[in-house]
Amino acid sequence: MTKIIEEELLEIRELTIDDLAAVFHLGERLFTSDFSPSMYRTWDEYEITTLFNSDNELCLVAELDGEIVGFALGTTVDKVNSAWKYGYLVWIGVRPGLQKGGAGHKLFAELRKRMVEQGVRMIVIDTDADNEAGINFFKKQGFGNIQKHVYMTLNLSRPRQRRKSSRS
Ligand SMILES: CC(C)(COP(=O)(O)OP(=O)(O)OC[C@H]1O[C@@H](n2cnc3c(N)ncnc32)[C@H](O)[C@@H]1OP(=O)(O)O)[C@@H](O)C(=O)NCCC(=O)NCCS
Repeated sequence: MTKIIEEELLEIRELTIDDLAAVFHLGERLFTSDFSPSMYRTWDEYEITTLFNSDNELCLVAELDGEIVGFALGTTVDKVNSAWKYGYLVWIGVRPGLQKGGAGHKLFAELRKRMVEQGVRMIVIDTDADNEAGINFFKKQGFGNIQKHVYMTLNLSRPRQRRKSSRS
């Protein structure tokens, strides 16, 4: 059941070094193999520390009663020979039970503001095609122009299967 979040009690602030473990463990609760095999595989402590080191101003947490209940981790991409600067919202998550309480929107609004201040002209996100809640959330924040892309894996621990020779 969703717990109503009192907006004035929810603080959005920059991630600090003391928050790293809390954000990592919250992500582990969210990005499970059942929820999304691709997000499960790519969520690790280096995701947070790398973004924290490169784009501290775009790494935000939502704090409620002294506890981390959400995070948004972003970065920017400058393209050579292009006047456009892109923002990439890499990860966003809100604690189960507190979702649909407005924390995700508040995190995104602050991230968006900071990206605009950094000269970003377009924000990009990606998520699983069947992450209906996530897609609805992003649409509500104004995202559109959905483009499908394919995610594939190659399991290197399995013996390689021989290809049938087309000559025989
Ligand atoms: C996506 C996520 C961050 C949204 O955070 P949130 O705090 O739940 O979102 P908000 O309460 O601010 O919701 C804003 C709007 O998004 C949409 N939305 C959010 N959750 C939704 C859900 N479960 N189903 C349908 N729409 C949803 C609604 O339109 C909502 O507006 P409304 O409440 O006026 O209807 C959160 O659901 C989450 O942590 N999901 C798991 C992780 C994930 O999928 N991350 C995205 C890929 S990295």
